Amino acid sequence: MAKKPTINFVCQECGYDSPQWLGKCPECGNWNTMKEFRVTSGGLSARSSVSTNLAQIKPQKLKEIVYKETSRIQTEYQELNNVIGGGIVRGSATLIAGDPGVGKSTLLLQLAISLSSQSKVLYVSGEESVEQVKMRAVRIAENSEHSEMTEGQKIRVSESSNSSENLFLLALTDADAIVEQIAQMKPDLVIIDSIQTIESQNVSGLSGSVGQVRYSALQFIRSAKQNNIPIFIVGHVTKEGMVAGPMVLSHMVDTVLFLEGEKFAKTRILRSLKNRFGPVDEVGIFLMEETGMQEATNPEKLFLTQASEQVPGSVLVSTLEGSRAFLVELQALAVTTRLPMPRRVVSGVDSRRVELLLAVLQKHCHMPLDTMDVFVNVAGGMKLADPGIDLGICLAVYSSFKNIPLSHAVGIAEVGLLGELRAVSGLEKRIKEAEKLGFKNIITSKKYKSLRDVLAKLKN
Ligand code: TYD
Ligand code: MG
Repeated sequence: MAKKPTINFVCQECGYDSPQWLGKCPECGNWNTMKEFRVTSGGLSARSSVSTNLAQIKPQKLKEIVYKETSRIQTEYQELNNVIGGGIVRGSATLIAGDPGVGKSTLLLQLAISLSSQSKVLYVSGEESVEQVKMRAVRIAENSEHSEMTEGQKIRVSESSNSSENLFLLALTDADAIVEQIAQMKPDLVIIDSIQTIESQNVSGLSGSVGQVRYSALQFIRSAKQNNIPIFIVGHVTKEGMVAGPMVLSHMVDTVLFLEGEKFAKTRILRSLKNRFGPVDEVGIFLMEETGMQEATNPEKLFLTQASEQVPGSVLVSTLEGSRAFLVELQALAVTTRLPMPRRVVSGVDSRRVELLLAVLQKHCHMPLDTMDVFVNVAGGMKLADPGIDLGICLAVYSSFKNIPLSHAVGIAEVGLLGELRAVSGLEKRIKEAEKLGFKNIITSKKYKSLRDVLAKLKN
């Protein structure tokens, strides 16, 4: 006998579910976001079968649990290995999120090609046809070594190479059919591109809705755990910067990676936001080239553009991303405004932080910034949310305002509301990185107590 469908209402923003419809989501406070979501078999009703099984499952003592340290899968990409904590853990589920077009499919296809020389990889594409994926593979597979070849030769090479024996493409969007394929095929790695295109008959709603995303992700993760296969799931990001379909996914997977970068800059930063098997906030740096994603060879120099020239308005900061320090160039432009409300245009750093620092400069360093338009920019498309760059922002604005070049100075300190300098985490590491690259003028909270002291020193 067919089961009566269960009806639930799920918030499309945060995934909160409730048995009745609500105008306002009690979890995230958004209005009109609850959508009906019907489960006929499996899915939510599977809970009852779990509870009957529970009778047979006994809690185990921690010391009695035997666990085998299975080696992680090392990929060809050292940057990726580092970000996920030293290689891919078998049976783990990883979400790769990012804006459309940032390079998620390219990166994962490269990963699939490189791993398929030794293991079986299943690449499920819900967005592109297998021919499209093949075209991309041909474009990136035989890139540098065979760059002088014609298209035809490249296709033949990619067909004869080891990788094509073990790399399987599947253009399918039916979640249950994909799970079946995984169980039958038992690959060594599964890639789902992307979760927003996957749907199941068992759940109502269009693909990409919270119900569909949640149900299919749950099926994939379960299948990954049961078969001990690592799985990578691609997720697009909504306007608000949340993983669309939305935050629900990040609670379900073991690791959340974010691929970020500006459309028109080459740099791509892969960042771990959550990791059950390693540290968070680790970053890996890639460059999007004609031939796909390349690992950055000397990332520490990547964000320095003007460093050799002495230009007012440019300052270096040493920022910490996970366990790595990077030297990044900050640029500021301060010009007399013609508007009653001066403009503050900021990219790459928090604009409210910049407003605050401008107020500190005005109050404690007597700079008339209320009559100036101020523009602040991070070179190289990096986004910085590190308090250690405060001093750098102030110095860049000061440098532009006074027309004094400071482009070889490195500022490392947090600035307080009273204009005092505070020490930041990883100070030694940041200083060491700056010294390694040959910068001598490093301004930190160790040498100076306040912003005013620093600026007084610069005047002389
Ligand atoms: P893609 O991986 O399709 O992005 P996502 O899956 O995150 O939506 O990347 C698409 C962009 O990357 C597209 O604008 C073209 C560019 N690209 C390159 O610059 N070089 C390449 O070798 C490839 C395959 C893509
Ligand atoms: Mg894609």
